[in-house]
Amino acid sequence: MEPLTVRSYRIRGSRITGSQAAAREKLWGKYGIEFVESPIDLTHYFPKAKAIIMEIGFGMGEGTAIIAKDFPQNGFLGVEVHPPGVGKLMAKAEEFGVENLRIIERDVHEVFHYMITDHSLDGVHLFFPDPWPKKRHNKRRIVNANFLEILSKKLKPNGFIHIATDWFPYAEVIQESFAKSEVFKGGVVARPEWRPITRFEGQGITKDHVVTDLRYTFR
Ligand SMILES: C[S@@+](CC[C@H](N)C(=O)[O-])C[C@H]1O[C@@H](n2cnc3c(N)ncnc32)[C@H](O)[C@@H]1O
Repeated sequence: MEPLTVRSYRIRGSRITGSQAAAREKLWGKYGIEFVESPIDLTHYFPKAKAIIMEIGFGMGEGTAIIAKDFPQNGFLGVEVHPPGVGKLMAKAEEFGVENLRIIERDVHEVFHYMITDHSLDGVHLFFPDPWPKKRHNKRRIVNANFLEILSKKLKPNGFIHIATDWFPYAEVIQESFAKSEVFKGGVVARPEWRPITRFEGQGITKDHVVTDLRYTFR
């Protein structure tokens, strides 16, 4: 396979606590999927799943573990670059007795490029992606034309992406990006009850700082 030259994410200081490191080590065999530069068969990890949903950048995974517990019929693949969050989510999943969750610790662009076969995902969750509010950093935002191109390859027909952002200018840019696409339909939706409240929600609501949920379906 062609090597991937674009990497959007550099890991900054990531201090892992003793309990996160211990959980990550103890539970890696149960929840972790090693990064490999070749395609994987998702149905091997989620043999009974009605739908396979990838969550990009789950952070500390507070919401991820609850969603996986609430939807046992679905398989959830969490992708995150931040090791402390991986440890934290594994510990939470174990506490909840969650069986339908797997985690890849890597930049999602590499995961898409090497590991995810085309049209194998029923859905993607992208909750509170880094907003990169400074103009000179806007180009680091994950949602852009290239991301839509990748999504259109990896989602199944009628597959969806659900995005939540607490940065209104980013929500507008997301809408503009999807409006330019001929293969996605959708837009702003009401906050779904199934999406757990994270620490990003309801923090100091201002004109720019308001939570927007967006949902798009691939044709
Ligand atoms: C602002 S946090 C939101 C975390 C979480 N979704 C929540 O709602 O609490 C964004 C997360 O995305 C992760 N992230 C950013 N770019 C990524 C990439 N290319 N691949 C995987 N994870 C990424 C970061 O490490 C960070 O944990």
